[in-house]
Amino acid sequence: MTEQRVQALDISCRLDAIGEMPTLLEVDKVYKRFGGLEILSGVSFSVGRGEVFGLVGPNGAGKTTLFNCILGIVPVDSGRIVLGGRDVSNLPVWKRASLGMARTFQRLELFSGLTPREHLIIAYRTHKRSGSILKDLIGHGLPTREELDRAASILELFGLMDVADVPVEALSLGHGRLVELARAFILDPFVLMMDEPSSGLDAAETARISDMLERLRGNGRSCAIIVEHDLDMVTKVASQIAVLDSGSIIAQGDPREVLNDPEVRKAYLGKV
Ligand SMILES: Nc1ncnc2c1ncn2[C@@H]1O[C@H](COP(=O)(O)OP(=O)(O)O)[C@@H](O)[C@H]1O
Ligand SMILES: [Mg+2]
Repeated sequence: MTEQRVQALDISCRLDAIGEMPTLLEVDKVYKRFGGLEILSGVSFSVGRGEVFGLVGPNGAGKTTLFNCILGIVPVDSGRIVLGGRDVSNLPVWKRASLGMARTFQRLELFSGLTPREHLIIAYRTHKRSGSILKDLIGHGLPTREELDRAASILELFGLMDVADVPVEALSLGHGRLVELARAFILDPFVLMMDEPSSGLDAAETARISDMLERLRGNGRSCAIIVEHDLDMVTKVASQIAVLDSGSIIAQGDPREVLNDPEVRKAYLGKV
């Protein structure tokens, strides 16, 4: 057996194991310093299947740093990131991705010149490692029927059919964000990480993203972690929220209860 095949088999066995764990993501006493400053001071929480976990807090609280630690963009100083029972704290970003973590970006990170349909097919193919980069480069890597069908069903789900074949630079910000989300969804991730998904969107576009997150809650397979400024949106879609303030979680639980907590209102909203 080739080494690549052994590795693929190894990953699919681990995916089966992750698929059976009720807790998909565990953040366990994570500490992070930058220079002399402690940015994260022992953050712990866990997220189960079908949950949308909202992470809120004032600017500079450490939300993006925590997000980056979970994804593997920034190494933790101590503590663990556990994905489906497996400690991934020392694994690189791509390996965490291959084990079922997907993300969207705070600013759009799409490829100009490519259409939404092409973005989805490329993401799907790369994830499954079914394509040969060389074949694609010389133009023989035509999409398979399975790739086309899968992309079409996700485009439909996200209401992107009308713009499926339009280059992304011609799309509105809202459509662009939906393409990013669709690109993450097509990978069928266990853990979907979203940084400010509603930033720059109008009410209708935000509602579409909320619908997608509600669908994710209903599928019972995955979970999502969203960093979000729009408290109405996060209250609506999250099953629980945590408030991060100066690197520590100061409150966690039911979104409405947490946001009405006087401590939280003082720290976060600057009022009681
Ligand atoms: N790479 C870095 N090097 C040094 N300091 C950083 C770095 N990234 C973030 N910080 C600092 O960490 C603190 C928390 O930042 P961040 O995680 O972006 O907070 P939030 O996303 O909650 O606004 C800020 O004081 C920021 O300046
Ligand atoms: Mg941030």
